[in-house]
Amino acid sequence: MRTPQEDDAPGSGAAHDRPLTFIDLFSGCGGFSLGLEWAGLRCLAAIDFNESAIETFRRNHPEVPVALVKDLTKFAPKELDAALGSERVDVIVGGPPCQGFSKARQVGGSNHGERLVYDPRRELFREFLKYVAYYQPKVFVMENVPGMRSAAGGAFFTAVQVDSRELGYRVIPYEVQAWRFGVPQKRIRQLIIGTRRELPLFIPDRYIRETHVDLGEPEPKGKQSAVTLGEAIGDLPDLTSGDERFIRTYDLAARKEHVKRYGKRYLYDVLKAHKAKQLLGHTSRPHSDRDLRDFRRLREGETSRAALARGVEMEFPYDREHFKDRYTRQHRDQLCSTIVAHLKKDGLMFIHPTQARSLTPREAARIQSFPDCWRRLRFDPLVRIVPTEN
Ligand SMILES: C[S@@+](CC[C@H](N)C(=O)[O-])C[C@H]1O[C@@H](n2cnc3c(N)ncnc32)[C@H](O)[C@@H]1O
Repeated sequence: MRTPQEDDAPGSGAAHDRPLTFIDLFSGCGGFSLGLEWAGLRCLAAIDFNESAIETFRRNHPEVPVALVKDLTKFAPKELDAALGSERVDVIVGGPPCQGFSKARQVGGSNHGERLVYDPRRELFREFLKYVAYYQPKVFVMENVPGMRSAAGGAFFTAVQVDSRELGYRVIPYEVQAWRFGVPQKRIRQLIIGTRRELPLFIPDRYIRETHVDLGEPEPKGKQSAVTLGEAIGDLPDLTSGDERFIRTYDLAARKEHVKRYGKRYLYDVLKAHKAKQLLGHTSRPHSDRDLRDFRRLREGETSRAALARGVEMEFPYDREHFKDRYTRQHRDQLCSTIVAHLKKDGLMFIHPTQARSLTPREAARIQSFPDCWRRLRFDPLVRIVPTEN
């Protein structure tokens, strides 16, 4: 490992003639890494304790020298040294799990109020900061959900900032509205950006430029309208619920029409759909007949709450008070709801705008702006693999 002092020494040439390097902690399958690589940075290592996430990472980032299946509560930063060799770590990024702070997950109604419900996942930011303390990168970026700000009366949000300052960093919290950067969903994330104190002050307004405006807002020079769900998935072939073929062919006629309507800015420039040979993971899970009938009762963009309010009889057997929003049909001309990690289980909140089925893994990946050639190494064992039809 090189120290920052060595790196910043006159004549070292570091950081001026090479791309900035980073390590990705709690990397998952590598979405964060992908964004940084698109921005010109070079990933040195990724760590996550989920084996299939790391396999997927390796499959999609073959150029990254180190991708480890490790529990970060048990894997000390020093243990990474040998794998990194003499490489200097300029940036550390990571998204410690957000379930512990998520507003979607309330324990005893107190998960984001004053009362603290102990959840060990909330402590994982400390593991992240151990790596910051050891490698002293120029910059770190920690990503989490906005609920982190209010959890336990703000105790965690304050602790991250206080601890980072003690490590010699200036800390700027920055909230990202993903659709203002071209992601077709209502995703909001809390970034905590730390820069070493001796570096110039990081001013978000100077360095972070939103590229897209809200749907329906006038588009000032240099900005475009947000990407809708229809623009992200509208060229994909129609499916019937339960059609689980993993490999398909693209419908090129539909693509042509799609490009005529929306242009290439998302389909080609972001998803690179024209570079993928086969359409993978566009598989529809089965739904019960009762669910399918309820799906058809919903108008485009409507929740079961709204449908019940306009007098529609829904068949779902769950408690009407607590599960009013259980079903949501998404709207082609709007942003998609925030994609969740357990989408497969929560598919009822992600019903296709016009078809009676939930969104497919490929559609969810597109809504997260993963390119079409992005794939999982292991196929889901629940998904039958059937050869491409002609
Ligand atoms: C919010 S996801 C990260 C997503 C990732 N940043 C991306 O862009 O794809 C959190 C990840 O933390 C991992 N994780 C949770 N606890 C961990 C631990 N103790 N050690 C290593 N990884 C852990 C999970 O497996 C999960 O992949």
